[in-house]
Amino acid sequence: MYKLEINGGKPLKGKVQISGAKNAALPLMAACLCTDKEINLSNVPKLSDIATMNDLLSYLGAEISQSGNGFKFSTKNIKEVRAPYDIVKKMRASVIVLGGLLARNGYAEISLPGGCAIGLRPINLHLMALEKMGAEIDLDSGYVKASAKNGLKGAVIDFPIVSVGATENTLIAAATAKGTTIIKNAAREPEIVDLANLLNAMGAKISGIGESEITIEGVSSLNGCTYSVMPDRIEAGTYAVAGPITGGETEIEGINPSLLESTLQTLEKMGVKVTRKQNGFTTAFDGKILPASVQTEVYPGFPTDMQAQITALMCVGAGTSFMQENIFENRFMHIPELIRMGANINISGHTLEIKGVSQFKAAEVMATDLRASSSLILAGLNAAGKTSIHRLYHLDRGYENLEEKLQACGADVARIKE
Ligand code: UD1
Repeated sequence: MYKLEINGGKPLKGKVQISGAKNAALPLMAACLCTDKEINLSNVPKLSDIATMNDLLSYLGAEISQSGNGFKFSTKNIKEVRAPYDIVKKMRASVIVLGGLLARNGYAEISLPGGCAIGLRPINLHLMALEKMGAEIDLDSGYVKASAKNGLKGAVIDFPIVSVGATENTLIAAATAKGTTIIKNAAREPEIVDLANLLNAMGAKISGIGESEITIEGVSSLNGCTYSVMPDRIEAGTYAVAGPITGGETEIEGINPSLLESTLQTLEKMGVKVTRKQNGFTTAFDGKILPASVQTEVYPGFPTDMQAQITALMCVGAGTSFMQENIFENRFMHIPELIRMGANINISGHTLEIKGVSQFKAAEVMATDLRASSSLILAGLNAAGKTSIHRLYHLDRGYENLEEKLQACGADVARIKE
């Protein structure tokens, strides 16, 4: 296991090149299951979650070759129909192979993902959509067993709440279903747009992309294609906080700033100077961090995956801020660790009341989940002295070349084997 050691308290200044988005790459990889032709994906980030999805696809029978950030997937020999517990337990997002496997084989089994650090995260909506499309679903010995002997059929699916993963599974399953599928109350996240664009590049007929009603006219088969994964808006948002929280400035390259407009507007409300460019932006400290009230929402609202990072910034704001988490029921695990670093935070239900302090204090802290842990890095960069963040593997799930990117901005950070 590794820890990250940060000697913080110095203003950062530098450029960060944004990697491909983990949350886009994972469903794009799962979509390879719905063709037996070759798919070439470029700009795939090197992350442990991507390695887990590779393991799962290889287990199912895919042949995968890699060259740098490019991956070639050949799925003509998919033999296995069961996504096993050993792989699914490592990464909940494994559940997005269900739609593709079922559409391809007429049968699929997937281990239930089980409890998750940030809440219950059920998959009932994924299953509801597949059932509407004619699948029979059984739950047996911790596995979902889905069968559609006569193939999946188009249906109207009206999600009671917006779910990114359920929208993705439905898109993949509906691409080759018989007839037309309409998804109502679909997620509109940019990663959904990326998946729909890949499927269309493979020959699918999807319209309403990026809207809350998506129409998919099923086609009989899909082709191979070459596609580049979109940039990671959460990675960009995290580095956008890293400059200002140290009193410095970061220049983010390789992403259209409109992809994270709600995060940039939140930073502006908090007194950060944001300069938008065509393919990037700069965020700079501008005298003081102002308090704010923010709540997490589905896209295009403020993303839950940026909640922990903005909370860290609020901790060193000049006044009292409020952060309300509306998407997940248990996404405040970073708070006790931030308090150990000197933050003044009260939790009341789903809302944090954060009284700003002048600076974090360096400490030994423990990473608990991916995004929570990024708030500890931001706090460590702000604190004078040595902060050690244990269980770095949580961060390796979502941040490519983390320490190199921070070092390029002048941060004194090192990965140390424990
Ligand atoms: C995805 C992202 C995650 C992000 C989240 C919300 C990936 C790999 N992960 O997760 O980083 O934080 O979107 O933007 O892309 N729900 C149900 N039943 C279901 C499915 C979801 O009740 O069948 C609930 C969840 O518990 C949660 C809410 O819906 O409260 C939203 O979850 P969802 O959008 O599905 O998140 P994920 O796709 O798991």
